[in-house]
Amino acid sequence: MTKVALVGLGFMGRMHLSIYGTIENVQVTALCDVHEENMDMSRKGGGNIAVGEMKTDLSKARKFTSFKAMLAAGGFDYVDLCIPTHLHKEYAVLAMEAGYDVFCEKPMARTGEEADAMIATMKKTGKLLTIGQCLRFWPMYVKVKELLDSGKYGKVISAELARYSPSPTWSVDGWIEKGELSGSAGLDLHIHDVDMIHWWFGAPKGVTSSGVEAAGGGFGHLATIYDYPGMTVTSVGDWLCVDTFGLIMRALIVMEKAVINLDTTQSKPLTLYIPGEGKVYPELDVRDGYFFELRSFVGNVATRKAPTVVTAEAAMQSLKTALAEIKSAETHKKVAL
Ligand SMILES: NC(=O)c1ccc[n+]([C@@H]2O[C@H](COP(=O)([O-])OP(=O)(O)OC[C@H]3O[C@@H](n4cnc5c(N)ncnc54)[C@H](O)[C@@H]3O)[C@@H](O)[C@H]2O)c1
Repeated sequence: MTKVALVGLGFMGRMHLSIYGTIENVQVTALCDVHEENMDMSRKGGGNIAVGEMKTDLSKARKFTSFKAMLAAGGFDYVDLCIPTHLHKEYAVLAMEAGYDVFCEKPMARTGEEADAMIATMKKTGKLLTIGQCLRFWPMYVKVKELLDSGKYGKVISAELARYSPSPTWSVDGWIEKGELSGSAGLDLHIHDVDMIHWWFGAPKGVTSSGVEAAGGGFGHLATIYDYPGMTVTSVGDWLCVDTFGLIMRALIVMEKAVINLDTTQSKPLTLYIPGEGKVYPELDVRDGYFFELRSFVGNVATRKAPTVVTAEAAMQSLKTALAEIKSAETHKKVAL
């Protein structure tokens, strides 16, 4: 049985907690939150994705309001960090130095230097570290990767990715709306598509971005052209939508012999258009990426095998590209990578 300490019981912490109840061979043995009342699971939470039913066994979970006291008490194999982004580096480093593997939510850190420090600690301590770039485990995004890698449909001509969300007014103490702490939509929301762009097409050579500022600082809307030889890749990340809008994810990929359309507003969110065959709807697992990413890391910890789907280095690279986009939008200049 792999034992986990879950830190931060806001939107994503509650999501992880609900998932742990559906994974075999994992037990939550510690909970930590600076707000004691957030560890009360009868409380209602916020977020832009519905949290599943909370069936997780918490009978063995000790509760802590101090992270350092929790690390000193022990009784777990790894630490799952669902805390505000500006705390990721400090807490991940403390956990690894105390002898624990770490699952840390995305974005990896607030700055590139912080991500570098996390990787240095991972190497120094020999602990496992992965980041919650969950789309690498999300069935429809995984299927797109398979289609692209199959080589059956020729080269990519263009790709346009987009992610729109209402403003995230649900965060505890309002940290996410403060650009300095979260990196605003550019880092918090848009990082998912930046990570897909890296995973599907490899690293771009540079970025040219334009942004619209959010009230709390940083960009609430970011539009980017990525520099790739021989294809056009663009993206939009936006969390300035009114609260009735909901979360929308899209990716339209034009290839020589097919078009892939991922669109979560459709009842079948993934469509493949193939000459002679018309529309094809690939079969998708109904379970989500949070389930697969956490189950995968539980397996990594149990077998002592380093994560291969989301390595810390890959997450760091996506973070640095998103930061370059923010810099490009601030300076109105192309940023080389
Ligand atoms: N993978 C995804 O799809 C996804 C979705 C949403 C959020 N996230 C990420 O998850 C992280 C948390 O976001 P959220 O939306 O859950 O935020 P949130 O505000 O809803 O929850 C954060 C929780 O951390 C607690 N906390 C704050 N400081 C703490 C500390 N020093 N020690 C212990 N607990 C502390 C807060 O009390 C709160 O309960 C962020 O990095 C965010 O980017 C990922």
